[in-house]
Amino acid sequence: MKKAIIIFGSTGNLTYKKLLPAVDTLIHEKRLNPEDRIFLLARHDIDLSSYIEDAKTQVKRHLDWETLESYLEFVYFNLNQPQDYIDLEKRLSNKGYIDNTFYLALPPKLFPVVAKGISESGLVQKGDDSKRIVFEKPFGEDLDSARSINRELWKYFEESQIYRIDHYLGKEMIQNILVVRFANKIFGQTWNHNTIRNIVIIAKETEGVMNRGNYYDKIGALRDMLQSHLLQMAALIGMTKPRTFQSEDIKDAKIKVLNDLKLDASSIVFGQYDGYLNEAKIDENSKTETFIFATAHIYNDKWKGTPIYFITGKKLDEKRSEIIINFKDDNNLTQIFSNATPNNSKLIIKVAPEDGVKFQLNVKQPGLSDEIIPGHLDYCHTCDWIGNTSEAYEKLLLDVLNHNKTLFTRWDEIEAMWEIIDEVQKMDKPLYKYKDYSDIKDIIKTEKGVDIDAL
Ligand SMILES: NC(=O)c1ccc[n+]([C@@H]2O[C@H](COP(=O)([O-])OP(=O)(O)OC[C@H]3O[C@@H](n4cnc5c(N)ncnc54)[C@H](OP(=O)(O)O)[C@@H]3O)[C@@H](O)[C@H]2O)c1
Repeated sequence: MKKAIIIFGSTGNLTYKKLLPAVDTLIHEKRLNPEDRIFLLARHDIDLSSYIEDAKTQVKRHLDWETLESYLEFVYFNLNQPQDYIDLEKRLSNKGYIDNTFYLALPPKLFPVVAKGISESGLVQKGDDSKRIVFEKPFGEDLDSARSINRELWKYFEESQIYRIDHYLGKEMIQNILVVRFANKIFGQTWNHNTIRNIVIIAKETEGVMNRGNYYDKIGALRDMLQSHLLQMAALIGMTKPRTFQSEDIKDAKIKVLNDLKLDASSIVFGQYDGYLNEAKIDENSKTETFIFATAHIYNDKWKGTPIYFITGKKLDEKRSEIIINFKDDNNLTQIFSNATPNNSKLIIKVAPEDGVKFQLNVKQPGLSDEIIPGHLDYCHTCDWIGNTSEAYEKLLLDVLNHNKTLFTRWDEIEAMWEIIDEVQKMDKPLYKYKDYSDIKDIIKTEKGVDIDAL
């Protein structure tokens, strides 16, 4: 069956940076058929050639533009004009496109108007899974706004037609977390508070807001990163073994963690990098945080007493996302080995830019010394792989085309994540200015007594 992907917001950063490159790869991997089409919708009165000329200046990766062009159609479109939806419906049905994906690469406030438009024009019928709608994060700005967007969507679509993207879930090592945890029996008995001292979930960036000030200043690190990516990682780390590894069972296991997880409001540090207020499209008095540190606990028997530390922000020392599982020491460690350094055993799940798993454990120093030092077993996920591992958006786009919802967020997860965040986002927050990562680490140590370098 011929497939169509209809992109609303085709002149935006997401389309240029992620969606066009993902389509280019899917074509070359022969995951799209020659008769499949990408319909690029925009409110600009231009033709496909000018769109492509402009896109070439925006897309950073090398693409095979000649082949890509043969899959693209440009459509002038006014989101507020019901006739444009009706015309699009005619265009798709006249060309025989039945299996259609509507991708909303738009500001979230436009989701309801487009949902209404595509529904009332007959582009999508409620319950017809051959028509699917993809929504980007953030899904709302708080619990109330997310609920109100969702109420609108459920008027027009069944949950089975709604794909809410959290692109972190498309990353190789995030998908790999469940395999590492549940395909290796050694972790079965040890993955709980008896053996795990703490969990650190980090997503650091070196860049500032760049050209996304308009979006970022309204959202901040709490809602841009913690509400979605970091909480999803915590859910995958904290969940018990699902009944099966089918989509709904995995989500059922994740939602239990999200319902039991609470941020410790008194632990939170909000930071804003020096120079943020001078960035383009940032309010000169902005109180938006570009960094957040928070401690959380999962209040159930499996995790009692094991803290989770979340660290995420911009303009830090390096670009790195990873999850560190710090294991407890044997109670008698220093009695058995008087020179042992405590807290050396850890499992590091590397998410980006490298992906892999590193196991750090206590070993004897080689030679005559009886020193105990950290040794490393380091698995690089992509190194031994001949060919390319997929980028998150390639995987996610392909999954939408194949009606596979495993890596998409279900409504109750979104609701639970906003409940966690809402409790702290209404806090009156001191905002610490930082020049660099060491600055903000010093603040966390002084204000909260947590030494990040020792975690
Ligand atoms: N960029 C990323 O890496 C990224 C990552 C994760 C999630 N997201 C999410 O993806 C969505 C799009 O992000 P983006 O970065 O692509 O934003 P963007 O660069 O600001 O682009 C937004 C797109 O929406 C269109 N648009 C905005 N208002 C419109 C209106 N009133 N009528 C018609 N079209 C309108 C813009 O068209 P014009 O060109 O005509 O203004 C543009 O094509 C957002 O929900 C964002 O949160 C983005």
